[in-house]
Amino acid sequence: MELDRHGELPLHEQIERSLREQIRSGRLSADTRLPSTRGLAEELGISRGVVTEAYGQLAAEGYLTSSQGAPVRVAKTVRAASERPPARSLLESFSYNFHPGLPDLLDFPREIWLRSLRAALRDSPLDSLGYGDPRGLPDLREALAGYLGRVRGADADPEHMLVCTGFTQGLSLLCRALRGRGVEQIALEDPGWHPHRLIVEQAGLEVVPIPVDKSGLRVEELAATDVAAVLLTPAHQFPTGAVLAPERRAALIEWAEEERLIIEDDYDSEYRFDRVAVGALQGLAPEQIVYIGSASKRLAPGMRLGWMLLPSWLTWELTAAKTIEDCGSEVVGQLALCDFLTRGELDRHVRRMRLRYQRRRETLLEALARWLPQGRVSSLGAAGLFELVLLPDETDEPALVRAAAGRGVGIEGLALHRFIPSGSPGLVLGYGNLSEPAIEQGVRLLGEAFAQVRRQGA
Ligand SMILES: Cc1ncc(COP(=O)(O)O)c(C=O)c1O
Repeated sequence: MELDRHGELPLHEQIERSLREQIRSGRLSADTRLPSTRGLAEELGISRGVVTEAYGQLAAEGYLTSSQGAPVRVAKTVRAASERPPARSLLESFSYNFHPGLPDLLDFPREIWLRSLRAALRDSPLDSLGYGDPRGLPDLREALAGYLGRVRGADADPEHMLVCTGFTQGLSLLCRALRGRGVEQIALEDPGWHPHRLIVEQAGLEVVPIPVDKSGLRVEELAATDVAAVLLTPAHQFPTGAVLAPERRAALIEWAEEERLIIEDDYDSEYRFDRVAVGALQGLAPEQIVYIGSASKRLAPGMRLGWMLLPSWLTWELTAAKTIEDCGSEVVGQLALCDFLTRGELDRHVRRMRLRYQRRRETLLEALARWLPQGRVSSLGAAGLFELVLLPDETDEPALVRAAAGRGVGIEGLALHRFIPSGSPGLVLGYGNLSEPAIEQGVRLLGEAFAQVRRQGA
């Protein structure tokens, strides 16, 4: 044991660290007898009190045992930590990641966000860092209500708003609350965003798939079931891109009037390139609709920030659920978002990104026409951060996903988002987080993967 007599750490702490490290690494195994305090002090040329203090601390932590008169030993219960590799991510990384859920992470407005963060931390009242209102900071709810009213035509009342950690938590809390009320089933779009199904089933609810066509959810098929709640993406259906047609919107609202509930997933509606986005359904029937939006596409998914507009009869139940879940969302991000919104930065950011995504979408379509002409873009309007590409029926979709991954290209197959495994194979290609040259190159490699899978199939 080497001690640094002129170091910053006191001697007893140096001894503790050294012994702790030797025990953890297995160099000192369980039940090993240690030198007496006197013996070690003499050996190290230090006072006995220093060794006594170090042994006492390690005994308190459970590394050593010592009893009156008996020698000090390494505790019998300690196990050396096994050699382990450094922490890894569960996520695969790709050179060209066409994940449909990713916005441009490089273009996250770091400097502007930092300004908001700094201003928010400087100016926020002391109380804001305590346990706050579990629905979220009142000023943020006010700012979000203004934004959602103005941009999405929502009927947003800050008293019936809940800030949550993304759409995912919002839906999960809601499903559990509905289960508690005796709801057993929820209707979902088919095809629809795969995590919808996972979240609904995790809450113990049964999924009732309802088909989608080019006008969105087939409301007449929903009405033929006896489910009491439906979850849908009316402004930009995931993954077909359909917009819920006006007559279907009306029929859906009428359906909900009979004590039924609509859950509106408004995940990316600001990104519409061909016309003004349709307003949120929620504005038409706020007492029949739970609206859930999030910062994931508008800013970045890693922020884990979302918001729910609740019918008044659900507000307190969801507030209680949120309180039990996590006492309210993390507050520093809320403070920053509030400042960011109030300065009009979200509007500016979305406006800037809309042009960028529009160009990327055009690049994707051109690259597909060139490198994967066998694919049919099922484009139901220019919008969002992904396109659905349908492939010839005989295409082995899982093999294509694997072959693309082998070339560093990450893609999602349509089958993942289907409930009833039928219909054409396809790909849901996100272009949000890829530069234009990367889109071009990625699609070229995808075309190669497609040719390989075809050859193997033949
Ligand atoms: C259809 C749909 N809904 C919601 C979300 C956002 O989920 P969250 O806010 O939990 O990140 C996504 C993200 O990819 C999505 O594709």
